[in-house]
Amino acid sequence: MDDSVLDTVGSPLVRVDSPAGATVAAKLESRNPGGSAKDRPALRMIERAEADGTLAPGDEIVEPTSGNTGIGLAMVGAAKGYDVTLAMPASKSEERRRVMAAYGADLELVEGGISEAKDRADELEAEGMVQLRQFENAANPDAHYGTTAGEILDQLDGREPDALVAGVGTGGTVTGVGRRLREAFPAMDVVAVEPSDSAVLSGEEPTADSFQGMGPGFVSPNLDTDLLDGVLAVDVEEAEAECRRLAREEGILVGQSSGGSNVRARDVAAAFAAGEDPGYRDVALDGWEPRDDDAVGVAGDDPLVLTVFWDSGERYMSTGLYE
Ligand SMILES: Cc1ncc(COP(=O)(O)O)c(C=O)c1O
Repeated sequence: MDDSVLDTVGSPLVRVDSPAGATVAAKLESRNPGGSAKDRPALRMIERAEADGTLAPGDEIVEPTSGNTGIGLAMVGAAKGYDVTLAMPASKSEERRRVMAAYGADLELVEGGISEAKDRADELEAEGMVQLRQFENAANPDAHYGTTAGEILDQLDGREPDALVAGVGTGGTVTGVGRRLREAFPAMDVVAVEPSDSAVLSGEEPTADSFQGMGPGFVSPNLDTDLLDGVLAVDVEEAEAECRRLAREEGILVGQSSGGSNVRARDVAAAFAAGEDPGYRDVALDGWEPRDDDAVGVAGDDPLVLTVFWDSGERYMSTGLYE
């Protein structure tokens, strides 16, 4: 028996449909107690703020969110007794609002994207609330370094991953997981996936905010771009079609960022299995250079590519994703 719902953070690593001669495996993060990967940084950011004295009983937490961090904070806040206010773009799914409210959080909907939500959170912080700052707070990637990657190391059953291919919002997931796995497997590629219409890592101007949770429209301070071997872009239509395929053909219900990451993870696995270059784009930032270890496309027999499924498709029903 666990003492608290907060002790139940964790998720399985599951093999998904893979190209011939390769394996793709996904961390099914909807199995966390608040239903997404963001339970991990939510808990770690709150625990660290408690430890360093920036958060104390009676304080009110505020955070800008595309949804899942807000739900994670609302869940942890409820379990620990903090009031939570969340600033979220009004474009995000209805389910997100309702789940936050169900955990007792207050919601501030803003017009625009995550940058406008950040502005609103800054205003509320100036009025006395405690902001955890998921885009800058090192506890975010540290949570994935400690828990997500720690679990993966136990779940690999002795196999060596050839690549981590995963979407980027704050960058906490790809940075934390990539950092720990790169320490264990120095030759492993770490590849960011970003929306085609918000491909800032590829050096393009954002034109839309079509993904919930992925593609904030700026390079997040919590994304360690030095870890990356490159970046791949995905269209929201392709990502959503993959969500429908995963549900109908594999019994795995996930949201857009998961579908998009899986499509690109499968491409990389297929390229590796064929001994081909997976065609990463360069990261278009001053000073960024690809690592020179590079064994791209010549991974061993049955290459293994890891990805992350951040949340459940149940969080997207009202968007028509499955219709
Ligand atoms: C659905 C979804 N996918 C992907 C991500 C990206 O994760 P990270 O912020 O760790 O980069 C998030 C983050 O909020 C998310 O909610």
